[in-house]
Amino acid sequence: MKKILIINGPNLNMLGTREPEVYGKTTLKDIENEIKTSAEKNKVEVEFFQSNHEGDIVDKICAAKNNFNAIIINPAAYTHTSVAIRDAIAAVEIPTIEVHISNVYSREEFRHNSLIAPVCTGQIAGLGVQGYILALEYFSR
Ligand code: DQA
Repeated sequence: MKKILIINGPNLNMLGTREPEVYGKTTLKDIENEIKTSAEKNKVEVEFFQSNHEGDIVDKICAAKNNFNAIIINPAAYTHTSVAIRDAIAAVEIPTIEVHISNVYSREEFRHNSLIAPVCTGQIAGLGVQGYILALEYFSR
């Protein structure tokens, strides 16, 4: 069975109450439950990881080498700043999709650039929680 690691970065633990006009009212737990249901349907195994700390995310990606078939990551604010997370994804050579709940391209200019996207298979932005499910379906094939 394929194993997929789902990583959520800083402040995504606040989903549900965090800027609901931008991110909706769905909590991270709700998202994880939706992903679990979809994982069962698609016959893949999923593991969830959320951290507000850049180094912990880097550690998790490095530890995924040879243990996961794919990564789905919402690097949150680190999308726009983290060379370390980018380098970790490049180092482990695990196919990765970057997901954003909001359409980062219709927001502030500093959100338009992703340091992570160039080392990913692809990027999904602006489709809300469905972005995670679509990424999971892609990797389930
Ligand atoms: C986000 C977009 C980022 O710019 C922001 O820093 C986040 C969430 C999103 O899912 O839309 O924390 O990654």
